[in-house]
Amino acid sequence: MKKAEKIQRLEQVIHDFYGDKQVAPSLIEAILYSVEAGGKRLRPLLLLELLEALGLDLQLAHFQLAAALELIHTGSLIHDDLPAMDDDDYRRGRLTNHKKFGEALAILAGDSLFLDPFALVARADLPSQIKVELLASLSEAAGSFGMVAGQVLDMEGENSQSSLEDLQAIHAHKTGKLLAYPFLAAAILAELDSSDRAGLIEAGQLLGLAFQVRDDILDVTANFDQLGKTPKKDLTAAKSTYPALLGLGEAQQFLDQLLERVLGLLTQLEQTSTFKGQVIRQMIEGLKLND
Ligand code: IPE
Ligand code: IPE
Ligand code: MG
Ligand code: MG
Ligand code: MG
Repeated sequence: MKKAEKIQRLEQVIHDFYGDKQVAPSLIEAILYSVEAGGKRLRPLLLLELLEALGLDLQLAHFQLAAALELIHTGSLIHDDLPAMDDDDYRRGRLTNHKKFGEALAILAGDSLFLDPFALVARADLPSQIKVELLASLSEAAGSFGMVAGQVLDMEGENSQSSLEDLQAIHAHKTGKLLAYPFLAAAILAELDSSDRAGLIEAGQLLGLAFQVRDDILDVTANFDQLGKTPKKDLTAAKSTYPALLGLGEAQQFLDQLLERVLGLLTQLEQTSTFKGQVIRQMIEGLKLND
């Protein structure tokens, strides 16, 4: 299935989920404002491409899981932008949720975006055992053992110079865990054996770290039109980032090394299983910043 069709079906699932059972229309308006602003849809696309690479035919349930992940990610962005956190005015090329709807509704829209996905997946047409495993790992990737924990470490690191080791732990949690989820979920859905599963999960963890290193680099090197958010925010907030700790050149090298390691793990998986990595490989190549 083509990328455009995947995105269209993903967005339809989200639209249908919120479409017909509105209790508080202003809440749904605030939710859809941020979700429908777009974004790269990297996490859901990774999941759907990985499933196809593992030989699965895409079903509605797979799009529902992909949508659930994108909803949680979008909730994390709304909360990340709040005045109490990064205090940002723009996201996905639009005013941030709290700038448009006020802080209270933005907080509540984020709350919904963290909770709704669990019903969306729980109601999906998948074997119960697989669903329980997917839901438990989604909670672990998002909550007190994943993204939220990383955001706390990030916040606590703000007024001090973090070591590289600290920064790696911050990035691996605040961004790495949700970005690695497609790899874990694909391994669960394809019922991979434990060694193939371990390789895929490691690839996801490395890619998750790489993605935040890339975000840190782009904060310094990209402009508003490319980012859809205010550039140089980490610089003005004097945040610990990979470019701040290593310098831009070394941060870029580190990103390349991480992406090469991901590609290496995928090659290995192609040799030990029926995995067909071509499209995923292209997506990962597309994250390189050096050309
Ligand atoms: C931005 O994520 C926040 C990070 C975790 C680095 P994305 O760069 O994937 O943002 P969207 O979804 O495209 O807006
Ligand atoms: C975002 O990190 C991590 C989460 C949203 C969980 P950043 O604060 O660097 O993301 P941007 O740069 O605002 O997108
Ligand atoms: Mg932040
Ligand atoms: Mg931020
Ligand atoms: Mg950033």
